[in-house]
Amino acid sequence: MSNLPHYQQQQQTVTFAYSQGALQLTVLTPTIIRVFSNRGESGHSYAITGNKQQSTPFTLTTKDNHYELRTSALTVSLDADRHIDVYDAQGAPLVTDYRGERHLLDKGVDKVHQKLVEAEGHSATTQSAHDADYFQVVKDLASDEQLYGLGDKTGYLNKRGFEYDNWNIDYPDPQLEILPNIYKSIPVMLGLKNGHPYGLFFDNPYKSHLDLGKEDPHYYVYSAVAGNLDYYILGGHTLKDIVTAYTYLTGRTPLPQKWTLGYQKSRWGYSASQTEVQAIADNLKKYDLPCDAIHFDVDYMDGYRVFTWDHTKYADPQKFIARLKARGIKVVPIIDPGVKQDPDYPVYTTGVAQNYFVKTPTGEVYINKVWPGDSAFPDFGRPAVRQWWANNTKFLTDLGVAGIWNDMNEPASFDGEIPENTVFYDQDQPATHRKMHNVYGHNMAQATYEGLKQHQGKRPFVITRAAYAGTQKYATVWTGDNRSMWPHLQMMIPQLCNLGLSGFSFVGTDIGGFASDTSPELLTRWIEAAIFSPLLRNHAAMGTRRQEPWAFGEPTLSIYRKYLKLRYRFIPYLYDLFAQESHTGLPIMRPLVLNYPTDHQTQNLDDEFMVGDQILVAPIVQKSKRQRLVYLPAGEWVDFWTHQTYAGQQDIVVQAPLDKLPLFIKRQTLLPWGPAVDHIAETPDSSMTFQLFGDQGTYDHYQDNGSNFDYQTGQYNCYHLSVDPHQVSVTLTHHGFSAAYQTIHLALSDRVVTFTYDAQTTSYRQI
Ligand code: GLC
Repeated sequence: MSNLPHYQQQQQTVTFAYSQGALQLTVLTPTIIRVFSNRGESGHSYAITGNKQQSTPFTLTTKDNHYELRTSALTVSLDADRHIDVYDAQGAPLVTDYRGERHLLDKGVDKVHQKLVEAEGHSATTQSAHDADYFQVVKDLASDEQLYGLGDKTGYLNKRGFEYDNWNIDYPDPQLEILPNIYKSIPVMLGLKNGHPYGLFFDNPYKSHLDLGKEDPHYYVYSAVAGNLDYYILGGHTLKDIVTAYTYLTGRTPLPQKWTLGYQKSRWGYSASQTEVQAIADNLKKYDLPCDAIHFDVDYMDGYRVFTWDHTKYADPQKFIARLKARGIKVVPIIDPGVKQDPDYPVYTTGVAQNYFVKTPTGEVYINKVWPGDSAFPDFGRPAVRQWWANNTKFLTDLGVAGIWNDMNEPASFDGEIPENTVFYDQDQPATHRKMHNVYGHNMAQATYEGLKQHQGKRPFVITRAAYAGTQKYATVWTGDNRSMWPHLQMMIPQLCNLGLSGFSFVGTDIGGFASDTSPELLTRWIEAAIFSPLLRNHAAMGTRRQEPWAFGEPTLSIYRKYLKLRYRFIPYLYDLFAQESHTGLPIMRPLVLNYPTDHQTQNLDDEFMVGDQILVAPIVQKSKRQRLVYLPAGEWVDFWTHQTYAGQQDIVVQAPLDKLPLFIKRQTLLPWGPAVDHIAETPDSSMTFQLFGDQGTYDHYQDNGSNFDYQTGQYNCYHLSVDPHQVSVTLTHHGFSAAYQTIHLALSDRVVTFTYDAQTTSYRQI
């Protein structure tokens, strides 16, 4: 006991004076405890904004050989050797320090052979040398412990047994399960240890590495090249509680504009010609394909200069954008960070004059190559630079664009990597690329979000490729340059589900595959599998086979159309999920394990997902497959197409011809069924239908203007619908948005019940 360090308590922070360096525990809430040890790094968190500490009762007691800090949800024990062990309220271990030695992987190669193996381009390294800034955290791994999250990684749902890096990269080759990192660094991990849920968030932007039981099945390792030891332990009763706690800490995806849930059409190359964009819009109409947006890739700009529009290709972009908008199609242009080095280009000259670009250690503007050739890189870590960038977005909002797509913001560079010692600012303090790399895209997305908010007054629609923990507050994300190959369709499910567990609810992949040539069957299965993906965008690379649904004729076109139309029917449900998500952080697209964490069958399920709590989707993700096993968890499940009911907790064989997406609705569910439209209208719907699956159910439905921030001052409606064997009822539980539905239909199994609105009593009457 005498070996225990002294401590000092200041409100909810306790500092333990270990000889190896002080260690601080801060109680933020009953379910969030921060572990911090200052290793000399200054600066603040980019993931967490505002003060998240709530007044929380806790106790600190001295036991025989350790201290014990206890909230209602978590108990942290600290011993004389600086070991930290965390338990849940029942005393079950969640996160405990590993006391043994590490056993580095023996890759069976000596120095001589290592060179030989590497000569053919293979990697044979065991462990690289570390400098003094390096540190590691090693925690026990139980035999029954599953690990999820980590943001945007390749591979499978359960991350156990793999290793990953957090360092944002632009990786154009096929992204397979062996790849440790791609475009985003989101160092949050969710665990289920012997069925007990927890989360760990390492808030450190420096390059970090996670070995999740690959090196040794008895422990997992977090290590970083530098930074403070700064992590958060998250607790709760369920995995959902962990996601809610994590998104309380790092922020939630705000309610999006409703049209952003519509179909979006893209291809690198469309925007090189106004005629081509017009032809795409015409074909969407001609082939009766609903759509809400066309994305403009880099070709619309004047020589890839950001915040310019090529007038030789577009006589009057503003008019053209307005014409598309009148037909229900919005324009979302790309903006990359690289600013062309050109003395006659005001964005460049202003950036130089104001010192807004990152610099070499000797003080010159740092130049590397991206699409425009030699380019300078805005120093987005600085508030002034973010404001400048936000101001620049006015060029685009004045032309009438509806959102902005941020790309290449890892940042990517064609002429070798940006040296680590390049000077990037951390707010107003000089720092390095090494420190600011992983938050570059995050800060760019924030600047873009602020710009759109200032200039449009609507909920900003920003899409970003690079991200850090917390970027979900500013942007939707897509998973970058996938390929038209079946493994990438398979990967979409765990990739988007893990992003959802990591706070990113508004996510999507390039449907059909970005690089390489798609095939009619792959495109068909991809649109089926992605139809509930929050961001629904078909995007392809220049130089690949055409990927518009009409490019393949029948039956591709009809099947594609059938699913797009189905998507629009479900948009009110997706929008309801977003309204809930903005309060809970729970994602739209969910792995089954989030809804059924104690069911072992769900813990490694890579080819099914749920949409909210009610819909189960089991797409075909293998070539030539026409049937598959579907695991149904507890409850009863109704086949969406046949209305046949199945008992849960069993695998069933489902036939899935090319035009069928296996889809199940939890029995006793009431779901909204939006109108058949070819785009999301700006005028409010006057009527809504709800469909019952089973013979009773209740549902809470949200409605607002789908566009701006009026809902934040109460201008929204909430409806409670209920069907039981004796009664069908509709209640307007919150009435703040004037355009309440005039009629509401409830489609029961044997009849449709209709209600009409009585403005006088603000209530619904059955007719
Ligand atoms: C990057 C993006 C891709 C885009 C291309 C051209 O590869 O990931 O989506 O089409 O750049 O701008």
